[in-house]
Amino acid sequence: RSVGIGRAHAKAILLGEHAVVYGAAALALPVPQLTATASAGWSSPGRGADGGLSFTMTGSASRAVVTLASDGLRRLAAAFTERMGVTGGAHLDVILDGAIPPGRGLGSSAASSRAIVFALADLFGVELSEAAAFELVQTAENMTHGRASGVDAVAVGASGPLRFQAGRASELEVGGEGLFIIADSGTAGSTKEAVELLRESFTREAGAQQEFLARAARLVDEGQDALAEGALEELGSALDRYHELMRAVGLSTGRIDAMVEAARGAGSLGAKITGGGLGGCVLALTQPEQAGRVARHLHDAGAVQTWVVPLRRHAGHA
Ligand code: MEV
Repeated sequence: RSVGIGRAHAKAILLGEHAVVYGAAALALPVPQLTATASAGWSSPGRGADGGLSFTMTGSASRAVVTLASDGLRRLAAAFTERMGVTGGAHLDVILDGAIPPGRGLGSSAASSRAIVFALADLFGVELSEAAAFELVQTAENMTHGRASGVDAVAVGASGPLRFQAGRASELEVGGEGLFIIADSGTAGSTKEAVELLRESFTREAGAQQEFLARAARLVDEGQDALAEGALEELGSALDRYHELMRAVGLSTGRIDAMVEAARGAGSLGAKITGGGLGGCVLALTQPEQAGRVARHLHDAGAVQTWVVPLRRHAGHA
């Protein structure tokens, strides 16, 4: 084969971000309308790093990867060579395209890595299991985020809402007719910095970590039950309270708080920051009838883009 293609989509964390890094559970949603696509082709065969792969990256999404994860990508290439038994040096041209804005808690780095991994597998004609794909994406994620929980690596390839805890994922039951509106504040936040900031604050204050994890776990469980029963009011309330948890530890921003307030004022059932924080996106739950109004108010409060994600499964990419 002379060209390999791989795809993945964005994700949003419904509940449990940060707590999941400490072994607690998180709930995540695929965002299928925002995708990353990688195509990989040989540039000059034989001219690569010793026995391994090297890349030249171009494309509309490559900046996200080059700035956020270039070390991760080198590790990814090395891990791929080793894991898949690819021998002989090769230099590859990788074109990474897509519209997942980087640093917004939408999983752009994991989606880019997954798209690249599947493009390489396609190019080399090797079968990639989900377990191998996860392992490879995590190699890059750990470089980008410090120590990543793995929730992003799973969610960017999932076809429906999922629960993730300590490396294991399971599908979530979904009831009700809710919609999520994801609103981009236009400001990037570094997940790595956010994870470090929280870790430092936990070392300064005795008991803070236990309290954060206990509250997070309660909200995740409440949210999971509410989601299964289609109890959207309760799910919204869990989102609201998770936002307060994130705000209290300094992971929200003024613009995000204003957007959360605007969504609630416009009839959203609940709204929160989503992902690593220090910038990024708001996730607001709404009845379909209120969606237009909630989105308008989010824009008025500073959102630069919004996306609507209905609560249901979609066809996967792999
Ligand atoms: C990022 O989507 C979620 C965080 O919990 C980091 C991680 O799980 O690795 C902030």
